Amino acid sequence: MAQSNDALWGGRFASGPADALAALSKSTHFDWRLASYDLLGTSAHIKALSAAGYLDADELAILEKAIIELDKRVRSGSFRPKPEEEDVHAALERGLIEIAGADVAGKVRAGRSRNDQIATLVRSFMLEAADLLQIELTEYLGALCDQAEDHVGVAMPGRTHFQHAQPVLLSHHLLAHAWPQVRNLQRIEDWRKRAKKSPYGAGALAGNTLGLDPNLVAQELGFDAPTENSMDATSARDLVAEFVFICAMIGIDLSRFSEEIIAWSTYEFGYVKLDDSFSTGSSIMPQKKNPDIAELARGKSGRLIGNLSGLLATLKGLPLSYNRDLQEDKEPLFDSVDTLLLVFPAFTGMVASLKFDRERLEELAPRGFSLATDVAEWLVKQGVAFRDAHEITGNLVKLCEAQNCELHQVSDSELQKISKHLRPEVREVMSVTSAIRSRDGAGGTALPQVLEQLLALRKLAPRKQG
Ligand code: ARG
Repeated sequence: MAQSNDALWGGRFASGPADALAALSKSTHFDWRLASYDLLGTSAHIKALSAAGYLDADELAILEKAIIELDKRVRSGSFRPKPEEEDVHAALERGLIEIAGADVAGKVRAGRSRNDQIATLVRSFMLEAADLLQIELTEYLGALCDQAEDHVGVAMPGRTHFQHAQPVLLSHHLLAHAWPQVRNLQRIEDWRKRAKKSPYGAGALAGNTLGLDPNLVAQELGFDAPTENSMDATSARDLVAEFVFICAMIGIDLSRFSEEIIAWSTYEFGYVKLDDSFSTGSSIMPQKKNPDIAELARGKSGRLIGNLSGLLATLKGLPLSYNRDLQEDKEPLFDSVDTLLLVFPAFTGMVASLKFDRERLEELAPRGFSLATDVAEWLVKQGVAFRDAHEITGNLVKLCEAQNCELHQVSDSELQKISKHLRPEVREVMSVTSAIRSRDGAGGTALPQVLEQLLALRKLAPRKQG
C-alpha cells in the first residue's frame, strides 16, 4: 500500500489505498506547476487564520518564514513531491511541516479544503497565463500592423470561395487577421472580470465554521472579491472552459491565416517568400522550403479544440458540488496555454519576416474578372436595374472567357454589341485602382479606410523602435 504517512487523509481508513487507486488518483505530475500559487494561497490563508485568532503572532511569523523558504526550495527544485504523494497540496503540507514543525504547520489546514484551494489556484494560474497570452497577442498584432504599414497601397486578389472575387489592398487583408485577435484580447479582458473572484473560504462546499474572512484572502491574492456561492465556487469550471475556448479561438484564427500562408508560399501562388529562419527544409529534396510553422499552428489548433471539447464533456452531467472528475480540468488547460506560448513566438516571427512579391500581387489583382462587380455597379449608376446590369456583365465575362481575354481588352464595338449601356466610359471602372478607391465606406478596402483601421490597431500594438 502506497499511502505516505503524511497523507492528507487516512484517519478513518483501516488500510491505505491500493496501488492501483493511488496511481489513478495521483496528480502531482501535472499539478506540481501550481505549487507556487498554492503557497501564495497558504500565505493569505494564514493571515485569515491569525486575524480570526487561530494563530498567534509567533506562529504566524514562523509560518510566513517557512512559506518563503519552501517556495525557494520548490522553485530551485530542491523540494519535490514524493512518488507516493497524491497531489500538490499533500506534498506542500509535508514541506511546511518539515520546515515549521508539525505543531505549527499542522494548524494551517484549518478552515480550508483542497476543493476551495484548487479552485483558487487554477484561477490564479489562468490570470497569469492571461497576461502572457495578451503579450503574445499584442506582439502578433504588431507584426501584422508592421506588414500592413510596409505595404500600404499594394493591391491583391480578394477571394471568396477561394476564387478571385474583388481586388483588395494587401494591408486590408492582413488587418482582417488582426481584428479577430483583437476580439480575443477583448475576450480575455472580459473573462478576467469574471475570473477575479476568490473561491477561498468556500471550504469543501458549504463555507467554513471558523469565521475566516474571505475578503482578506481575496485581497491578499489580488482578486476583486470572494465568490458569491461556496457550492458554485468549488464545483463550477465554466471559467476554465471559457479560457480554454479563448485559447482554441486564438488557435483557430492563427490556423485560418496559416492556411493562406501555406497556399501563398507555393510556386503557383508566389505571393510570398518565407524567411529562411522561419521555414524548414526536406531531408531528401534539396530544393524544398516548407511552411512548417504555419502547418504546425494549423495542426495544433486541432489539439486546442480537442482540449476544449474534452473539458466540456468532463463537465457535462456533474452534480453539485465538487467531484473528482474536476481534477481533469488541469491538463487540457495547461496544454492549451503551453501550446499557444510555443506557437506564438514562431508564428509572429514568421509573419514579421514574410517577403511579399508586390508585382505578383498587383498583377493578379484584376485577374479572374475581379472587376466585374465594378462594371455592374457602373451600369447601375447609369440607371440600369441591377438585375439587368448583372446579366449584361455576365455576358461580357462570357465573351472574355470565349476569347480568352480580360474585361478591358474587349473593343468598344463588342461592348456595344453586348449592351447599348456599355459605353466606352465604362473603362474608367475597369482598373484595380478605381475598384479599391471606390470602396470607401466604413470598413471598406479604400486606402483612407485601411489607414483608419491601422491607426486604431496601432493604439493596441504600437510600432517597436528600431
Ligand atoms: N487534485 C484535486 C483536483 O485537482 C484537488 C482537490 C481534491 N479534493 C478532493 N476532495 N479529493 O481537483
